[in-house]
Amino acid sequence: MGKIMLTGDRPTGRLHVGHYVGSLKRRVELQNTGEFDNIFVMIADAQALTDNADNPEKVRQNIIEVALDYLACGLDPEKSTMFIQSQIPELCELSFYYMNLVTVSRLQRNPTVKSEIQMRNFDTSIPVGFFTYPISQAADITAFKATTVPVGEDQLPMLEQTKEIVRKFNSIYGDTLVEPEILLPDNTACLRLPGTDGKAKMSKSLNNCIYLSEEPDAIKQKVFSMFTDPTHIKVEDPGKLEGNTVFTYLDAFCRPEYFKEFLPDYENLDELKAHYTRGGLGDMKVKRFLNSVLQAELEPIRNRRKEYQKDIPYVYEILKKGSEKAESVAADTLRDVKESMKINYFEDQELINAQAEKFREGEAKEA
Ligand code: TRP
Repeated sequence: MGKIMLTGDRPTGRLHVGHYVGSLKRRVELQNTGEFDNIFVMIADAQALTDNADNPEKVRQNIIEVALDYLACGLDPEKSTMFIQSQIPELCELSFYYMNLVTVSRLQRNPTVKSEIQMRNFDTSIPVGFFTYPISQAADITAFKATTVPVGEDQLPMLEQTKEIVRKFNSIYGDTLVEPEILLPDNTACLRLPGTDGKAKMSKSLNNCIYLSEEPDAIKQKVFSMFTDPTHIKVEDPGKLEGNTVFTYLDAFCRPEYFKEFLPDYENLDELKAHYTRGGLGDMKVKRFLNSVLQAELEPIRNRRKEYQKDIPYVYEILKKGSEKAESVAADTLRDVKESMKINYFEDQELINAQAEKFREGEAKEA
């Protein structure tokens, strides 16, 4: 059996560098290895609506932003099927059947759901759709028989839940669904990139993210105001790397060749780190280097985005074509699922014949 990749993002805002190192960059690399038979990248608008029911316009506006970010990063519509979740009704049907395989207490124990409920202050007013979104995410993944799901660490519990649903389905109805593997970033700095203020969570309201589409001046300003080591006051002071956002970003973004280009006094990141911990290396110098690195990384992305921005109808056309292809694949899986569950009554000639036979027997007895 071949390899199939599926992944997605909620369209609630532009994508930022955390999305990039956490998942997007990997997707593009995987896309370009050519080892996948099929690649699906989903804009999860229906999932975004589970906690934005009162603000559908936000979701609607951000679909194109996410699509542009995808294309900007190098996802290629010739190689990857980009589509919009809500346009695939089969996903709802699958979710409906999977709901019977999951208990309420299991959902309550899902760590991602738990923390998201807290974050959103839902308390006792949790929308049912939000509560059950891990089930719909299992539908997203299994509908495409995905073998590989490259996502951030926060999605681990979703993948666990999906695997459980697959096992349960297959054990009751026979081998039908494919168990997916999560693919986490191999670089630990990329597992959970902090905000520029050092806080674990990146959010628009905290103004602590660097967006992929960010202009050069804004990148510079955000890098220069980044959180470092608050005890590293004078240049001579020894500095700490742990919790030092500038170094975390360097761990995530720096490539060896950037030293030659922007900071030739050092061979590599280890040397730079050693000098910083020893003392005698000022924050500004490190920040200037990080700025150069980020500018180099983000410039081609921003430029590609601007090209696609010139032809927005074409981007919607990509999503439409992608959604059509995605739907036809999901429809095949739904057909398999219904066949396994034996709820494909009209295709089940055996059932029809057996029922006919049963009632003929009944009549024969009556006669
Ligand atoms: N939950 C993911 C997020 O918040 C988005 C998503 C929805 C997803 N369905 C998916 C990711 C299926 C991977 C696979 O970013």
